[in-house]
Amino acid sequence: MNSTANKFDAYWMPFTANRDFKKQPRIITGASGHHYTMDDGTRLYDMFSGLWTSGIGHCHPKVVAAVQQQVATLDYCMSFQMSNDKAFALAERVTDLAPDGISHCFFTNSGSESVDTALKIALAFHRARGESSRTRLIGREKGYHGVNFGGMSVGGMVPNRKAFSANLMPGVDHLRHTLNIEHNAFTRGQPEWGTHLADDLERLAELHDGSNIAAVIVEPVAGSAGVIPPPVGYLQRLREICDRHGILLIFDEVITAFGRVGKGFGAQRFDVVPDIITTAKGLTNGVIPMGAVLVSDAIFDAFMQGPEQMIELFHGYTYSGHPVAAAAGLAVMDVYNEEGTFEQSVILETKFADFLHSFDDHDKVIDVRNFGLMGAIEMAPREGAPGSRGLEVYKKCFWDEHVVLRNGMDTLVFSPFLNSDADELEQSFEAVRRVMDSID
Ligand SMILES: Cc1ncc(COP(=O)(O)O)c(C=O)c1O
Repeated sequence: MNSTANKFDAYWMPFTANRDFKKQPRIITGASGHHYTMDDGTRLYDMFSGLWTSGIGHCHPKVVAAVQQQVATLDYCMSFQMSNDKAFALAERVTDLAPDGISHCFFTNSGSESVDTALKIALAFHRARGESSRTRLIGREKGYHGVNFGGMSVGGMVPNRKAFSANLMPGVDHLRHTLNIEHNAFTRGQPEWGTHLADDLERLAELHDGSNIAAVIVEPVAGSAGVIPPPVGYLQRLREICDRHGILLIFDEVITAFGRVGKGFGAQRFDVVPDIITTAKGLTNGVIPMGAVLVSDAIFDAFMQGPEQMIELFHGYTYSGHPVAAAAGLAVMDVYNEEGTFEQSVILETKFADFLHSFDDHDKVIDVRNFGLMGAIEMAPREGAPGSRGLEVYKKCFWDEHVVLRNGMDTLVFSPFLNSDADELEQSFEAVRRVMDSID
């Protein structure tokens, strides 16, 4: 270790302006319910419920107890050619929540791994059925599918892709994104304009011939790009085009699953059933890293062919179905049921939309978007300094108002707890307004 290094040097933080952060580090040492605490005892209200992860609040006693018990009972066991009781139990619980016909679950450790697993399953599925010409993958501009090479390739976040441009996967196309402030600014929920953008998929199927396309992946509501709800009928139209051409539809529900849009999955909320669903985050309430890929019976069955002694899919992780993560997941599923978390989320939706749209006429705001418990307030950038206004609001909210949110450039993003107290949430939005009013 470098003896001159200060105690913040060693940790290279993810998606963080490291040098700026380390001038005034924001270090959390505890959490409970809807608040974080810092070393000096300061409490902060968490308007982002972790990182879209912790819908039932931090350190939920039921989840804490389940994890404590599991780690003292079975801490780990090999995940290849043997497994643990909790992984099977959780797979059943999660597939029970899924749309009919989606009844198999492959465990990963993160959203990024779920996405790359889903892409591999899609490619291997077509090959297993003798359609090995289906190799092309389609994502969407502004899509976020994690940071591994597959997810980055189908993703459409320019800063994430820029440094790796030459190494991204070949054979990938992108649909246009559906964010359009000119037509849709300040829409509550799904915009009417933009359904036709799904026809990009039809054009790509014509260009490449549909028989060469394996899958299209989209977030039902784009989250990381600043909350972009799908235009009315858009997801249905994608489904129809996929069906016409034998293309698999993958919903990346790392954010939208487990109550964030009021149902077990966005698929149910939008009444569109994909072939594959990727999840993570709310699967364990963020307590232990875990993801899951859910697939249709048709996909699973296509793999369960050939000699029984053969491994059907050469893919998996040391920690797939980890018993402690699975125990956390089981406790979280119990809480969702017992506390009616998804119903709580639906009830909160209207108030949340009201709080957000009370910023519609704010002089610094150019758009407000919401769906379920996902919301964004987009501010106009400062002349010559894009992103500076968003970061200033974020920091002032943290230090002066003790409220945690997220900013993507000049867009403020909100992901409240599914079981938020509406008054607490309202007070937090008032704090955000004070900060927005106080800056230039
Ligand atoms: C839609 C979506 N997919 C994938 C990911 C990547 O998840 P992780 O950070 O767990 O790898 C995220 C993370 O926010 C996401 O929002």
